[in-house]
Amino acid sequence: MKGTWATSASLDLHLELSGTRPRAALEAALRDAVRSGRLSAGTPLPSSRALAGDLGLARNTVADAYAQLVAEGWLDARHGSGTWVAERAARVPRARPPGDRVAPAPVRHDLRPGLPDVSAFPRAAWLAAARRALTVAPARDLIGYASPRGLLPLRQALAEYLARARGVVVTPDRIVVCAGFAQGLELLCDLLRAAGKRTLAVEAYGHEAHRRIAAAAGMRLAPVPVDDHGALLADGAGLPARTGAALLTPAHQYPLGVVLAPDRRRDAVDWAASSGGLIIEDDYDGEFRYDRQPAGALQQLDPERVIYVGTASKTLAPGLRLGWVAVPESLGGAAGLARQSFYRGTGVLEQLTLAELMTSGAFDRHIRRMRTQYRRRRDELASTLAASLPQLGLAGISAGLHALIYLPGHGPTEEQIQSRAARLSVAIHTLGAQAIIVGYATPASHAYRPALEALAELLAMEPDEQP
Ligand SMILES: Cc1ncc(COP(=O)(O)O)c(C=O)c1O
Repeated sequence: MKGTWATSASLDLHLELSGTRPRAALEAALRDAVRSGRLSAGTPLPSSRALAGDLGLARNTVADAYAQLVAEGWLDARHGSGTWVAERAARVPRARPPGDRVAPAPVRHDLRPGLPDVSAFPRAAWLAAARRALTVAPARDLIGYASPRGLLPLRQALAEYLARARGVVVTPDRIVVCAGFAQGLELLCDLLRAAGKRTLAVEAYGHEAHRRIAAAAGMRLAPVPVDDHGALLADGAGLPARTGAALLTPAHQYPLGVVLAPDRRRDAVDWAASSGGLIIEDDYDGEFRYDRQPAGALQQLDPERVIYVGTASKTLAPGLRLGWVAVPESLGGAAGLARQSFYRGTGVLEQLTLAELMTSGAFDRHIRRMRTQYRRRRDELASTLAASLPQLGLAGISAGLHALIYLPGHGPTEEQIQSRAARLSVAIHTLGAQAIIVGYATPASHAYRPALEALAELLAMEPDEQP
């Protein structure tokens, strides 16, 4: 007897029946499905007549198997209401599937870097944009396999926005839409390797996950020093001879928070021109600059050597998984990138909705509103620290959604701060060099003040205090 599908009563039920005794096989298969949790409490089962028809068994065989399982407590049945998986059967403890991670305990004050205030996601504007997009989109955009480069309305909207707001030199045909910066980086690493470039320079500290992505794509990593003026990417700066590309965060270095200084920007593109290298510009939070006009994208200094990558993860929400790459012709353009690996593009509904959000002006309005809010939060962080802990140095605050707080050498260590943070239910990151990284955009606005107070309490810890 083989596994089979029962499809009766509008229910699909897969059962593996083995052995030569049909009733015993059916009972064992149902017991196993309930025990493993595959059939959960309350799941209705097909009628004995329907299941018998689907499995090619006598109806009595199925009815007897059901009756036996009801008697054993696996199933419940009531005349006229059918048969379903019993409540108490669900109480049998389930083994955790391999790889199923335990969810981290929720923290009261979430100041981890990397997230915008997702409670401020513009739900009403997104819904309105989705409704409009869905109403007018041609069926081929909605149902067919779309071009892996991304849908034209979004690439047009992005080209307009990136040129206007970030100074990117780009046309829609140079853009590839991808699932966030992370996927853009993965595709780019494949493309770089195909172009014979095997070493990627990465900023000191930098984003650990991005290094892992590049390394998994087969790139060798070479560190670039970062100081108060940003990354030092220049001829003679100690890079390995055959460094083919560099990954930079010019608008707001992650995690140190420094903005790449004008002469360093020049040095970087000069390095690319003289070495034949390419620069991947990670413009993850470039929209958020507080004290003066945002610095435009580095890409505008040399659009053939700087590959611009943007994301909706900070302006809207990381869960959207939307990012975009402006690919130079020298790298085969958008077509070259979209051909990489088995890339099939991203979901069209999100693409069409974002295009509509951008062309309607709602995207710009949301960014302006959030920029004002984040600037206010940053100022509150600065004034709280200045009032209660003036000995601590705050850095990286002219842009972005996170700041660095340097801990004095004679004060508590990062480890002591982290264990106290756990007790106060505060989530922060540490730099690994006597500093903590605070994501001040992460909490909802009502939760920000209490989070700041908890942070101040945490940082007021004496070094000799037991953590
Ligand atoms: C340095 C940096 N780049 C890019 C991103 C965005 O990545 P993604 O677009 O894959 O969400 C983040 C998010 O935290 C980041 O910290």
